Amino acid sequence: EKGGYEHFMLKEIYEQPNVIKDTYRGRLLANTGIIQMSGVEDNIEKFTNADRILIVACGTSWHAGLVAEYIIEEFSRIPVEVEYASEFRYRNPIITSKDVVIAISQSGETADTLAAIKLAKEKGAFVFGVCNVVGSSISRETHAGAYTHAGPEIGVASTKAFTTQITVLTMIALRLAKVKGTLSNSDYFRYLQELEIIPEKVLEALNTNDIAKEIAEKFKDSQNCLYLGRGYNFPVALEGALKLKEISYIHAEGYPAAEMKHGPIALIDEKMPVIVIAPKQGHYDKVVSNIQEIKSRSGKIIAVVTKGDTQVKELADYVIEIPETSDALSPLITTIPLQLLSYYIAVLRGCNVDQPRNLAKSVTVE
Ligand code: M6R
Repeated sequence: EKGGYEHFMLKEIYEQPNVIKDTYRGRLLANTGIIQMSGVEDNIEKFTNADRILIVACGTSWHAGLVAEYIIEEFSRIPVEVEYASEFRYRNPIITSKDVVIAISQSGETADTLAAIKLAKEKGAFVFGVCNVVGSSISRETHAGAYTHAGPEIGVASTKAFTTQITVLTMIALRLAKVKGTLSNSDYFRYLQELEIIPEKVLEALNTNDIAKEIAEKFKDSQNCLYLGRGYNFPVALEGALKLKEISYIHAEGYPAAEMKHGPIALIDEKMPVIVIAPKQGHYDKVVSNIQEIKSRSGKIIAVVTKGDTQVKELADYVIEIPETSDALSPLITTIPLQLLSYYIAVLRGCNVDQPRNLAKSVTVE
Protein backbone atom coordinates (compact mmCIF):
# COMPACT_ATOMS: atom_id res chain seq x y z
CA GLU A 1 0.00 0.00 0.00
CA LYS A 2 3.02 2.28 0.42
CA GLY A 3 3.90 1.51 -3.19
CA GLY A 4 7.46 0.52 -2.39
CA TYR A 5 8.17 3.62 -0.32
CA GLU A 6 9.28 3.33 3.26
CA HIS A 7 6.64 5.74 4.51
CA PHE A 8 3.34 7.17 3.33
CA MET A 9 4.80 10.63 3.63
CA LEU A 10 7.51 9.92 1.07
CA LYS A 11 5.02 8.22 -1.24
CA GLU A 12 2.72 11.23 -0.98
CA ILE A 13 5.58 13.68 -1.63
CA TYR A 14 6.40 11.71 -4.78
CA GLU A 15 2.77 11.58 -5.90
CA GLN A 16 2.65 15.35 -6.28
CA PRO A 17 3.37 15.64 -10.02
CA ASN A 18 0.49 13.25 -10.74
CA VAL A 19 -2.02 14.55 -8.24
CA ILE A 20 -1.52 18.16 -9.29
CA LYS A 21 -2.42 16.99 -12.78
CA ASP A 22 -5.48 15.20 -11.39
CA THR A 23 -6.44 18.44 -9.67
CA TYR A 24 -6.51 20.52 -12.84
CA ARG A 25 -7.60 17.76 -15.24
CA GLY A 26 -10.78 18.79 -17.09
CA ARG A 27 -10.69 22.18 -15.36
CA LEU A 28 -7.70 23.88 -16.91
CA LEU A 29 -7.57 24.09 -20.70
CA ALA A 30 -4.47 26.16 -21.23
CA ASN A 31 -4.54 26.27 -25.04
CA THR A 32 -8.03 27.67 -25.24
CA GLY A 33 -7.62 29.83 -22.16
CA ILE A 34 -10.46 28.20 -20.26
CA ILE A 35 -10.78 27.45 -16.58
CA GLN A 36 -13.95 25.65 -15.66
CA MET A 37 -14.91 24.61 -12.16
CA SER A 38 -18.63 24.15 -11.73
CA GLY A 39 -18.68 25.23 -8.08
CA VAL A 40 -17.07 28.51 -9.08
CA GLU A 41 -19.04 29.01 -12.31
CA ASP A 42 -22.40 28.42 -10.65
CA ASN A 43 -21.60 31.19 -8.19
CA ILE A 44 -19.38 33.43 -10.24
CA GLU A 45 -21.26 36.62 -9.39
CA LYS A 46 -20.96 35.96 -5.68
CA PHE A 47 -17.20 35.87 -6.13
CA THR A 48 -16.83 38.82 -8.46
CA ASN A 49 -19.20 41.03 -6.45
CA ALA A 50 -17.63 40.14 -3.14
CA ASP A 51 -16.34 43.00 -0.98
CA ARG A 52 -13.67 40.63 0.21
CA ILE A 53 -12.74 36.99 0.46
CA LEU A 54 -12.11 35.56 3.88
CA ILE A 55 -10.17 32.34 4.11
CA VAL A 56 -10.50 30.12 7.20
CA ALA A 57 -8.42 27.03 7.87
CA CYS A 58 -5.96 25.40 10.29
CA GLY A 59 -2.36 24.21 10.08
CA THR A 60 -1.01 23.49 6.63
CA SER A 61 -4.35 24.38 5.04
CA TRP A 62 -4.02 27.81 6.66
CA HIS A 63 -0.61 28.15 5.00
CA ALA A 64 -2.19 27.31 1.64
CA GLY A 65 -4.68 30.08 2.44
CA LEU A 66 -1.83 32.54 2.98
CA VAL A 67 -0.33 31.66 -0.39
CA ALA A 68 -3.79 32.11 -1.92
CA GLU A 69 -4.08 35.55 -0.33
CA TYR A 70 -1.05 36.73 -2.29
CA ILE A 71 -2.26 35.08 -5.50
CA ILE A 72 -5.92 36.14 -5.39
CA GLU A 73 -5.09 39.75 -4.51
CA GLU A 74 -2.44 39.97 -7.21
CA PHE A 75 -4.46 38.30 -9.97
CA SER A 76 -8.03 39.32 -9.24
CA ARG A 77 -7.64 42.42 -7.04
CA ILE A 78 -10.19 41.26 -4.47
CA PRO A 79 -9.17 41.96 -0.86
CA VAL A 80 -8.38 38.74 0.97
CA GLU A 81 -8.01 38.01 4.66
CA VAL A 82 -6.80 34.72 6.07
CA GLU A 83 -7.69 33.61 9.53
CA TYR A 84 -7.18 30.64 11.81
CA ALA A 85 -10.60 29.02 12.05
CA SER A 86 -10.14 28.63 15.81
CA GLU A 87 -9.72 32.39 16.26
CA PHE A 88 -12.43 33.38 13.82
CA ARG A 89 -15.10 31.29 15.49
CA TYR A 90 -14.74 32.89 18.91
CA ARG A 91 -14.13 36.55 18.21
CA ASN A 92 -17.50 37.75 16.96
CA PRO A 93 -16.10 38.53 13.49
CA ILE A 94 -17.57 41.23 11.26
CA ILE A 95 -19.01 39.37 8.34
CA THR A 96 -21.86 40.11 5.94
CA SER A 97 -23.66 38.70 2.94
CA LYS A 98 -21.16 40.59 0.74
CA ASP A 99 -18.36 38.37 2.00
CA VAL A 100 -17.22 35.15 0.41
CA VAL A 101 -15.68 32.71 2.85
CA ILE A 102 -13.36 30.00 1.57
CA ALA A 103 -12.79 27.12 3.98
CA ILE A 104 -9.76 24.96 3.21
CA SER A 105 -9.43 21.48 4.71
CA GLN A 106 -7.78 18.30 3.56
CA SER A 107 -9.87 16.01 5.77
CA GLY A 108 -13.03 18.08 5.66
CA GLU A 109 -13.52 17.14 9.32
CA THR A 110 -11.53 19.74 11.27
CA ALA A 111 -13.78 20.86 14.14
CA ASP A 112 -12.67 24.50 14.26
CA THR A 113 -13.01 24.94 10.50
CA LEU A 114 -16.45 23.38 10.57
CA ALA A 115 -17.54 25.72 13.37
CA ALA A 116 -16.16 28.73 11.46
CA ILE A 117 -18.22 27.70 8.42
CA LYS A 118 -21.40 27.43 10.47
CA LEU A 119 -20.82 30.88 11.93
CA ALA A 120 -20.12 32.44 8.52
CA LYS A 121 -23.34 30.89 7.18
CA GLU A 122 -25.35 32.26 10.09
CA LYS A 123 -24.03 35.72 9.26
CA GLY A 124 -25.19 35.36 5.66
CA ALA A 125 -21.90 34.80 3.86
CA PHE A 126 -21.50 32.54 0.87
CA VAL A 127 -19.20 29.70 1.94
CA PHE A 128 -17.04 27.79 -0.51
CA GLY A 129 -15.08 24.68 0.48
CA VAL A 130 -11.73 23.42 -0.78
CA CYS A 131 -11.57 19.85 0.54
CA ASN A 132 -9.80 16.67 -0.36
CA VAL A 133 -12.09 14.06 1.18
CA VAL A 134 -15.20 13.59 -0.92
CA GLY A 135 -18.44 13.69 1.06
CA SER A 136 -16.69 14.98 4.20
CA SER A 137 -18.55 17.12 6.74
CA ILE A 138 -17.06 20.37 5.42
CA SER A 139 -17.88 19.51 1.83
CA ARG A 140 -21.48 18.94 2.90
CA GLU A 141 -21.73 22.00 5.13
CA THR A 142 -20.47 24.51 2.50
CA HIS A 143 -22.71 26.09 -0.18
CA ALA A 144 -20.39 25.02 -2.98
CA GLY A 145 -16.83 23.93 -3.42
CA ALA A 146 -14.02 22.34 -5.38
CA TYR A 147 -12.30 19.12 -4.46
CA THR A 148 -8.54 18.86 -4.62
CA HIS A 149 -8.51 15.27 -5.98
CA ALA A 150 -5.19 14.50 -4.28
CA GLY A 151 -6.27 10.97 -3.32
CA PRO A 152 -6.06 9.69 0.26
CA GLU A 153 -3.41 11.42 2.36
CA ILE A 154 -2.35 9.01 5.11
CA GLY A 155 0.80 10.63 6.50
CA VAL A 156 -0.10 12.99 9.32
CA ALA A 157 2.22 15.58 7.80
CA SER A 158 0.30 17.18 4.99
CA THR A 159 2.19 17.34 1.68
CA LYS A 160 0.20 16.68 -1.46
CA ALA A 161 -2.88 18.26 0.09
CA PHE A 162 -0.95 21.54 0.36
CA THR A 163 0.19 21.68 -3.26
CA THR A 164 -3.19 20.62 -4.64
CA GLN A 165 -4.98 23.20 -2.48
CA ILE A 166 -2.71 25.87 -3.92
CA THR A 167 -3.45 24.54 -7.42
CA VAL A 168 -7.23 24.84 -6.91
CA LEU A 169 -6.95 28.29 -5.36
CA THR A 170 -4.69 29.48 -8.20
CA MET A 171 -7.27 28.31 -10.74
CA ILE A 172 -9.96 30.22 -8.84
CA ALA A 173 -7.79 33.34 -8.83
CA LEU A 174 -7.18 33.04 -12.56
CA ARG A 175 -10.86 32.49 -13.33
CA LEU A 176 -11.81 35.56 -11.30
CA ALA A 177 -9.06 37.56 -12.99
CA LYS A 178 -10.46 36.61 -16.39
CA VAL A 179 -13.99 37.68 -15.49
CA LYS A 180 -12.85 40.90 -13.82
CA GLY A 181 -10.24 41.74 -16.45
CA THR A 182 -7.58 42.29 -13.82
CA LEU A 183 -4.79 40.41 -15.63
CA SER A 184 -3.57 41.26 -19.11
CA ASN A 185 -4.47 38.65 -21.72
CA SER A 186 -0.83 37.72 -22.17
CA ASP A 187 -0.25 37.28 -18.42
CA TYR A 188 -3.44 35.25 -18.14
CA PHE A 189 -2.36 32.85 -20.89
CA ARG A 190 1.18 32.70 -19.57
CA TYR A 191 -0.02 31.65 -16.11
CA LEU A 192 -2.36 29.03 -17.53
CA GLN A 193 0.42 27.53 -19.56
CA GLU A 194 2.81 27.67 -16.68
CA LEU A 195 0.34 25.98 -14.35
CA GLU A 196 -0.12 23.23 -16.89
CA ILE A 197 3.60 22.40 -16.88
CA ILE A 198 4.00 22.74 -13.11
CA PRO A 199 3.80 18.92 -12.65
CA GLU A 200 6.93 18.56 -14.80
CA LYS A 201 8.73 21.12 -12.68
CA VAL A 202 7.59 19.41 -9.48
CA LEU A 203 9.00 16.18 -10.91
CA GLU A 204 12.29 17.93 -11.52
CA ALA A 205 12.21 19.44 -8.02
CA LEU A 206 11.97 15.90 -6.63
CA ASN A 207 15.54 15.45 -7.88
CA THR A 208 16.56 17.44 -4.82
CA ASN A 209 16.03 14.19 -2.91
CA ASP A 210 19.75 13.38 -2.70
CA ILE A 211 20.92 16.79 -1.62
CA ALA A 212 18.06 16.94 0.92
CA LYS A 213 19.33 13.66 2.36
CA GLU A 214 22.88 14.97 2.51
CA ILE A 215 21.81 18.18 4.25
CA ALA A 216 19.65 16.16 6.65
CA GLU A 217 22.74 14.18 7.72
CA LYS A 218 24.53 17.40 8.60
CA PHE A 219 21.72 19.05 10.52
CA LYS A 220 19.81 16.16 12.08
CA ASP A 221 21.09 17.00 15.56
CA SER A 222 20.18 20.67 15.47
CA GLN A 223 17.93 21.94 18.22
CA ASN A 224 16.54 24.90 16.35
CA CYS A 225 16.00 25.91 12.79
CA LEU A 226 14.90 29.11 11.10
CA TYR A 227 13.03 29.30 7.78
CA LEU A 228 12.95 32.53 5.83
CA GLY A 229 11.10 33.59 2.70
CA ARG A 230 9.49 36.68 1.25
CA GLY A 231 6.32 37.43 -0.69
CA TYR A 232 4.72 34.28 -2.08
CA ASN A 233 7.38 32.27 -0.30
CA PHE A 234 6.80 33.65 3.17
CA PRO A 235 3.98 31.14 3.77
CA VAL A 236 6.26 28.43 2.37
CA ALA A 237 8.75 29.30 5.12
CA LEU A 238 5.97 28.82 7.70
CA GLU A 239 5.02 25.51 6.12
CA GLY A 240 8.64 24.32 6.01
CA ALA A 241 9.00 25.04 9.71
CA LEU A 242 5.73 23.32 10.62
CA LYS A 243 6.75 20.23 8.65
CA LEU A 244 10.06 20.02 10.48
CA LYS A 245 8.62 20.48 13.96
CA GLU A 246 5.75 18.08 13.63
CA ILE A 247 7.75 15.10 12.39
CA SER A 248 11.29 15.62 13.71
CA TYR A 249 10.47 17.47 16.99
CA ILE A 250 13.12 20.07 16.21
CA HIS A 251 12.02 23.54 17.16
CA ALA A 252 11.61 25.56 14.00
CA GLU A 253 10.19 28.94 13.11
CA GLY A 254 9.24 30.50 9.81
CA TYR A 255 9.58 34.24 9.25
CA PRO A 256 9.30 36.76 6.47
CA ALA A 257 13.01 37.29 5.72
CA ALA A 258 12.90 41.02 6.40
CA GLU A 259 11.42 40.50 9.87
CA MET A 260 14.65 38.85 10.94
CA LYS A 261 16.16 42.14 12.02
CA HIS A 262 13.21 42.77 14.32
CA GLY A 263 14.09 39.94 16.66
CA PRO A 264 15.01 36.49 15.40
CA ILE A 265 18.46 37.67 14.23
CA ALA A 266 19.45 37.56 17.91
CA LEU A 267 19.20 33.77 17.75
CA ILE A 268 21.73 33.38 14.96
CA ASP A 269 25.07 31.80 15.74
CA GLU A 270 27.17 29.00 14.24
CA LYS A 271 24.74 26.41 15.58
CA MET A 272 21.68 27.85 13.86
CA PRO A 273 20.73 26.42 10.47
CA VAL A 274 18.78 28.97 8.45
CA ILE A 275 16.85 27.75 5.47
CA VAL A 276 16.35 30.59 3.03
CA ILE A 277 13.98 30.41 0.09
CA ALA A 278 15.70 32.53 -2.53
CA PRO A 279 14.43 31.88 -6.05
CA LYS A 280 15.50 34.21 -8.86
CA GLN A 281 12.03 35.72 -9.31
CA GLY A 282 10.57 37.79 -6.53
CA HIS A 283 12.57 39.79 -4.04
CA TYR A 284 15.87 38.18 -4.89
CA ASP A 285 18.23 41.07 -4.10
CA LYS A 286 16.55 41.72 -0.79
CA VAL A 287 16.84 38.07 0.18
CA VAL A 288 20.51 38.06 -0.83
CA SER A 289 21.17 40.87 1.64
CA ASN A 290 19.30 38.91 4.32
CA ILE A 291 21.61 35.99 3.56
CA GLN A 292 24.63 38.26 3.98
CA GLU A 293 23.33 39.32 7.39
CA ILE A 294 23.06 35.68 8.46
CA LYS A 295 26.52 34.90 7.14
CA SER A 296 28.16 37.73 9.01
CA ARG A 297 26.73 36.23 12.20
CA SER A 298 28.08 32.76 11.34
CA GLY A 299 24.66 31.17 10.78
CA LYS A 300 24.61 28.05 8.61
CA ILE A 301 22.85 28.84 5.36
CA ILE A 302 20.84 26.34 3.37
CA ALA A 303 19.39 28.13 0.36
CA VAL A 304 16.71 27.06 -2.08
CA VAL A 305 17.71 28.73 -5.35
CA THR A 306 16.83 28.73 -9.02
CA LYS A 307 18.95 26.43 -11.16
CA GLY A 308 22.04 28.23 -12.39
CA ASP A 309 22.17 30.72 -9.51
CA THR A 310 25.66 32.00 -8.76
CA GLN A 311 25.26 34.83 -6.25
CA VAL A 312 23.68 32.88 -3.41
CA LYS A 313 25.90 29.88 -4.13
CA GLU A 314 28.91 31.93 -3.07
CA LEU A 315 27.38 32.78 0.28
CA ALA A 316 25.47 29.66 1.27
CA ASP A 317 26.80 26.52 2.93
CA TYR A 318 24.40 24.40 0.88
CA VAL A 319 22.26 25.20 -2.10
CA ILE A 320 19.24 23.28 -3.31
CA GLU A 321 18.52 23.99 -6.97
CA ILE A 322 15.00 24.05 -8.32
CA PRO A 323 13.59 24.81 -11.79
CA GLU A 324 12.62 28.37 -12.65
CA THR A 325 8.98 29.50 -12.33
CA SER A 326 7.19 32.80 -12.10
CA ASP A 327 7.10 34.26 -8.62
CA ALA A 328 3.38 33.56 -8.12
CA LEU A 329 3.62 29.86 -8.90
CA SER A 330 6.93 29.27 -7.13
CA PRO A 331 5.43 27.96 -3.83
CA LEU A 332 4.42 24.79 -5.70
CA ILE A 333 8.10 24.17 -6.39
CA THR A 334 9.97 25.66 -3.43
CA THR A 335 7.93 23.61 -0.99
CA ILE A 336 9.13 20.27 -2.45
CA PRO A 337 12.74 20.27 -1.15
CA LEU A 338 11.51 21.48 2.25
CA GLN A 339 9.17 18.49 2.51
CA LEU A 340 12.05 16.15 1.61
CA LEU A 341 14.41 17.81 4.06
CA SER A 342 12.06 17.41 7.03
CA TYR A 343 11.28 13.86 5.96
CA TYR A 344 14.95 12.81 5.96
CA ILE A 345 15.77 14.64 9.18
CA ALA A 346 12.88 12.85 10.90
CA VAL A 347 13.93 9.46 9.49
CA LEU A 348 17.54 9.96 10.62
CA ARG A 349 16.34 10.90 14.10
CA GLY A 350 14.36 7.68 14.24
CA CYS A 351 11.00 9.41 14.48
CA ASN A 352 7.68 7.90 13.56
CA VAL A 353 7.28 9.92 10.39
CA ASP A 354 3.76 8.93 9.43
CA GLN A 355 2.34 9.12 12.92
CA PRO A 356 4.19 11.74 14.96
CA ARG A 357 3.58 11.82 18.70
CA ASN A 358 0.59 13.75 20.02
CA LEU A 359 -0.87 14.36 16.56
CA ALA A 360 -3.93 13.06 14.75
CA LYS A 361 -4.60 13.14 11.02
CA SER A 362 -7.87 14.92 11.48
CA VAL A 363 -8.49 17.14 14.44
CA THR A 364 -12.15 16.57 15.14
CA VAL A 365 -12.08 18.11 18.60
CA GLU A 366 -11.40 21.74 19.35
O1 M6R B 1 -7.69 18.34 7.40
P1 M6R B 1 -7.28 19.79 7.55
O2 M6R B 1 -6.63 20.33 6.33
O3 M6R B 1 -8.42 20.67 7.98
O4 M6R B 1 -6.21 19.80 8.70
C1 M6R B 1 -5.67 20.98 9.20
C2 M6R B 1 -4.47 20.70 10.07
O5 M6R B 1 -4.82 19.91 11.18
C3 M6R B 1 -3.35 20.00 9.30
O6 M6R B 1 -2.97 20.71 8.15
C4 M6R B 1 -2.11 19.82 10.19
O7 M6R B 1 -1.54 21.06 10.51
C5 M6R B 1 -1.10 18.89 9.50
N1 M6R B 1 -0.66 17.88 10.40
C6 M6R B 1 0.10 19.63 8.98
O8 M6R B 1 1.00 18.79 8.35
